[in-house]
Amino acid sequence: MEIDSRFLSTGLLLVATIIVAKLISAFIVPKSRKRVPPFVKGWPLIGGLVRFLKGPIFMLREEYPKLGSVFTLKLFHKNITFLIGPEVSAHFFKAPETDLSQQEVYQFNVPTFGPGVVFDVDYSVRQEQFRFFTEALRVNKLKSYVNQMVSEAEDYFSKWGPSGEVDLKYELEHLIILTASRCLLGREVRDKLFDDVSALFHDLDNGMLPISVLFPYLPIPAHKRRDQARKKLAEIFATIISSRKSASKSEDDMLQCFIDSKYKDGRPTTEAEVTGLLIAALFAGQHTSSITSTWTGAYLLCNNQYLSAVQEEQKQLMEKHGDRVDHDVLAEMDVLYRCIKEALRLHPPLIMLLRSSHSDFSVTTREGKEYDIPKGHIIATSPAFANRLDHIFKDPEKYDPDRFSLGREEDKVAGAFSYISFGGGRHGCLGEPFAYLQIKAIWTHLLRNFELELVSPFPEIDWNAMVVGVKGKVMVRYKRKALSVNQ
Ligand code: HEM
Repeated sequence: MEIDSRFLSTGLLLVATIIVAKLISAFIVPKSRKRVPPFVKGWPLIGGLVRFLKGPIFMLREEYPKLGSVFTLKLFHKNITFLIGPEVSAHFFKAPETDLSQQEVYQFNVPTFGPGVVFDVDYSVRQEQFRFFTEALRVNKLKSYVNQMVSEAEDYFSKWGPSGEVDLKYELEHLIILTASRCLLGREVRDKLFDDVSALFHDLDNGMLPISVLFPYLPIPAHKRRDQARKKLAEIFATIISSRKSASKSEDDMLQCFIDSKYKDGRPTTEAEVTGLLIAALFAGQHTSSITSTWTGAYLLCNNQYLSAVQEEQKQLMEKHGDRVDHDVLAEMDVLYRCIKEALRLHPPLIMLLRSSHSDFSVTTREGKEYDIPKGHIIATSPAFANRLDHIFKDPEKYDPDRFSLGREEDKVAGAFSYISFGGGRHGCLGEPFAYLQIKAIWTHLLRNFELELVSPFPEIDWNAMVVGVKGKVMVRYKRKALSVNQ
């Protein structure tokens, strides 16, 4: 009898366990599965690759309408989860490094920037190095950089004839590397070593290929040239730094700021670190700024309304300040600022930003759907796609700089991460003010001294470049003509 009742209770326990397990599997498991973001459909293993190789923006354009603002792409063994739009991307921008980190996904920069800097060091050191950037880009420093930007522009355009035709893209690329050399790399490079150093940077640049993202150390000729160039640059900067130190010379440039920078424990920067940080600065600011100045020009020359508006603004400032162009005068150029910002909304050169996730997190879409994103995913957001969302930007394909003016402020109405050409939050661009000043200085000179006309068709986007820019030449006919206040 006793055995029977024990048998019965064991049996009951078993049945109860099975019922509970069934209930769990019926309610909890499907519910949690439902909260995982939808997957991009495709063949297993290479499906994602095929979609991705077509171009990430083309993939986003196809999948966003079907899957919404949060979805996952399988790429080999990796899951890439996209967070598109300000409603879901706040965590991407605000999460601490322990939750979402840059180190792994931006590792491919290490052989270019060199050892001991940025993505080759722990976050605590990287934070200190970014502090050096912040200090080197403070307003008092920017003021002296602007004077150099203005004189570089004057010098460069003085070599143009009375009239002619130029490839504006090539011209602006060139001018910006000269200016960056002066403000960032210093007088020695700009005055004496410019050709050598720019050839070496060219090799570094050509050593950063799409394949380098996956295999940064692949023994291909482009990588070998990159490594040799980096070594030579390190030697050149070591010589410059030690000659500045031994002559107790101090200059007004980013190189000097990095030489004078100290870590919290009092340790000064090494020559190798200074070189690496300068390379990082040039990589962050060179193509991005020259591409943006070219798009700005292309849009202004195709939109009479805005061309007249920026010319009018220049006239007013000339009336107020005469020929003076400095930091404070450039800061007053709101119309030009909005024209640059709108070109950059339509064409952010960094089309995809990435992080690696180390903890689970959840997001809620604007439709109220909740998704759980497991740790281990790569998390991506896309300025090129998010900047054209039609629930944020009215008529998003249209070049409309007034969308940023008081009363509309479409870059802010949906929150801090509506406009993300410069990223935002924890890792927002540190060079944004520098970039605007540089582009404004160039366009101020062009607007005040030339009549310009775009003679090639409106440029297309070169989606194949690592930093996405303008495809082909941008031919412009120019005629020297001073802008007059009384015109
Ligand atoms: C139009 C020009 C520029 C654009 C569109 C641009 C865009 C960006 C973007 C999107 C990020 C964020 C990357 C991410 O979140 O993963 C970023 C970060 C950064 N940018 Fe820029 N940038 C520009 C110019 C510059 C210049 C001129 C400099 C320096 C001279 C610079 C220095 C930096 C640095 C140091 C960071 C890293 C900040 C951090 O991780 O905390 N950028 N930039």
